[in-house]
Amino acid sequence: MMNWEIIDTHAKQWVKEAGERIRSSFKSKLNIETKSNPNDLVTNIDKEIEQFFIQHIKEVYPEHKIMGEEGFGDELQTLDGVVWIIDPIDGTMNFIHQQRNFAISIGIYENGVGKIGLIYDVVHDELYHAIRGEGAYINGKPIPVLKETPINEAILALNATWVVENRRIDHNLLIPLVKDARGTRSYGTAALELVFLATGRVDAYFSMRLAPWDVAAGAVILEELGGVVTNLRGEKLDFLSRNSLLAAKPGLHQSILKDYLKGGQW
Ligand code: IPD
Ligand code: CA
Ligand code: CA
Ligand code: CA
Repeated sequence: MMNWEIIDTHAKQWVKEAGERIRSSFKSKLNIETKSNPNDLVTNIDKEIEQFFIQHIKEVYPEHKIMGEEGFGDELQTLDGVVWIIDPIDGTMNFIHQQRNFAISIGIYENGVGKIGLIYDVVHDELYHAIRGEGAYINGKPIPVLKETPINEAILALNATWVVENRRIDHNLLIPLVKDARGTRSYGTAALELVFLATGRVDAYFSMRLAPWDVAAGAVILEELGGVVTNLRGEKLDFLSRNSLLAAKPGLHQSILKDYLKGGQW
């Protein structure tokens, strides 16, 4: 039997320590590189923090596997066993330009099932956290379960680029959704957008394409609170590949799928 409480205690301790390292890095000059395109950025700190986690995990849990955005983890073909899915800095562009609006995100999965979710808003020192079946917490304080909200009272989190012409979805489908919602917000960090949904600051979040490390932790936290997390077709996410995402309060998830997205091609 896996002792999730102990794993959780370790994970929390490492996340806090990593947060301290990131805060200290504000004083030094960043080394910024680009990845797939000129706006896809990575810094020495993203890489250092991922390596920091890997070193600790491998030392204490040599049998666990690691999937990390910056590629220092294992090459995984399956999600068998215990897998740590790590985004060392979610919101790297914000980290570089704003020194805020970014987070550390860690989901711990067993045979593909989310067991622990940790999202640390480093600048605000806010740790969002859940162990499957035990509720979700912010700095140790229970987060209330989510209540239903109709679309005309809902704030949608989305990246504005999805509503202008793009190659992943007929953007005309999204226009009525954006018109009917009370408002839209775009924070540029999937992990924080998911915990803003968990805490009711937004009511739904969607994206055409996210990686497993953007969503793994947030999904565990949200599902503890009755939130619903699927792709834009309403199907379960595959944590071995990239997915579209619709995460929303109960009820609202159903109505966005049925009233707005049904029949769309993506
Ligand atoms: C990005 C952020 C952003 C989302 C991108 C992600 P990163 O993660 O979560 O909000 O729109 O798709 O790649 O690269 O900053 O870890
Ligand atoms: Ca990135
Ligand atoms: Ca990310
Ligand atoms: Ca990242």
